[in-house]
Amino acid sequence: MRVSLTDRCNLRCSYCMPAEGLDWLPSPTLLTDAEVVRLIGVAVRRLGVTEVRFTGGEPLLRRGLPEIVRAVAALEPRPQTMLTTNGIGLTRLAGPLAAAGLDRVNVSLDTTDPARFRELTRRDRHADVLAGLAAAAEAGLVPVKMNAVLMRGLNDDEAVPLLRFALAHGYELRFIEQMPLDAGHTWRREEMVTGAEILAQLRAAFTLRPDPVRRGGAPAETWLVEGYEAVDGRPARVGVIASVSSPFCGACDRTRLTADGAVRSCLFSQEETDLRGALRSGATDEELADLWRKAMWGKPAGHGIDDPRFLQPIRPMSAIGG
Ligand code: GTP
Ligand code: 5AD
Ligand code: SF4
Repeated sequence: MRVSLTDRCNLRCSYCMPAEGLDWLPSPTLLTDAEVVRLIGVAVRRLGVTEVRFTGGEPLLRRGLPEIVRAVAALEPRPQTMLTTNGIGLTRLAGPLAAAGLDRVNVSLDTTDPARFRELTRRDRHADVLAGLAAAAEAGLVPVKMNAVLMRGLNDDEAVPLLRFALAHGYELRFIEQMPLDAGHTWRREEMVTGAEILAQLRAAFTLRPDPVRRGGAPAETWLVEGYEAVDGRPARVGVIASVSSPFCGACDRTRLTADGAVRSCLFSQEETDLRGALRSGATDEELADLWRKAMWGKPAGHGIDDPRFLQPIRPMSAIGG
C-alpha cells in the first residue's frame, strides 16, 4: 500500500512541477494523522496489507510523520514501513523515524552534479540530499535505495556516474523510465530513455548478472554488479523500473491512498473511490474495507500507455506519490 501524506514539495523538478508550484489540496480535505492511521489499520487488519510506503509530494514535510510511523508500526500484524523521499530533512529525521519504527527509505536523486541538480530541481539542495542519504544509512534504514529518472538531453549521460556513486556508498540504485505523469503533459514516448538503453550504458562499464532473488510484484528488475558489495556485505544490486517498455501490471499488488483520502487502484486510474466522506460520516471499519475492496475490483488490467486512447490521469504524480 502506498500512502501519499501531502501533495507539497520543497523541490520543483522540471518533470514533475512547474516553478510556481501547483494548486495544493485545501487543508480541510487532507486526512488528519488519526484518519490516516485508521485507514492504514483497516487495510492491514481487513485487506491483508503487509507493506506500507509513505510518499508525497514530499512526505518529510508532513509534520506528524514520526507519530504516524510509530502508530502504523504498532499495528497488529506489524506491517513493514517505508518512505520514498527527496532526502531533504533526513539529517534531522532519519534517527527519529528509525526510532519510531521506519524500516527503509528510497531517496530520489537524478544527478551527481550539484549545478545540474539546481537546473533539474530549481533548488540548490544537492548537498542536503547527499547528507540525507548518509543519515539514512547511519540510522540503519537499510538497504538505502536511490531512484533516478534519466531524461533525454538533460541527464541521459549519468547512468554510469550515478551507479559509481551508489556503489561507492553502498546504496541500491534503480533507474525509472519516465512515465506520462508530468504536470505539464509534455511526455513523449519517442524521447523516453528506455531501460534497455540504460542497461547498455551500464554494461559498457560493469558486469551485471541476473539477480537470483525472486522479483514477485516488485517494480524493479534487479541485477548483481560483479565485484561490488553493499554496506551490509550483501552483493551490490542495480535495478531498472521499466514501467513503460516492460510493464509489470500483471503482477501488481498495490493499492494507493491519496492525501485527501481517495483510493486509487492504479497509478494511472481515471477514477478514484473517496473514503474521506464515509470516514467522516461515521462509517465502520468493515464499511470502509468494503468500499476499498470494491475499488480494488475495478483495478484495470494494465496502464494502457501504448493504447492510442490513453489519457493521463487528472492527478499529477506529485499528488499520487508514485
Ligand atoms: P521497493 O520496495 O523499495 O522496491 O519500493 P518501490 O520501488 O515500489 O517504491 P518507490 O517509491 O521507490 O518507487 C519507485 C518507482 O516505481 C516510482 O517511480 C514509482 O512510481 C514506480 N512504481 C511503484 N509502484 C508502481 C506501480 O504500481 N506501477 C508503476 N507503473 N510504477 C510503479
Ligand atoms: N515518471 C517516472 N518516475 C517519476 N518520478 C516522478 N515523476 C515521475 C515520472 N513522470 C519519480 C521520482 C521518485 C519516484 C517516487 O517517482 O523521481 O523517485
Ligand atoms: Fe502500476 Fe497500475 Fe500497472 Fe499496477 S496496474 S503496475 S499501479 S501501472
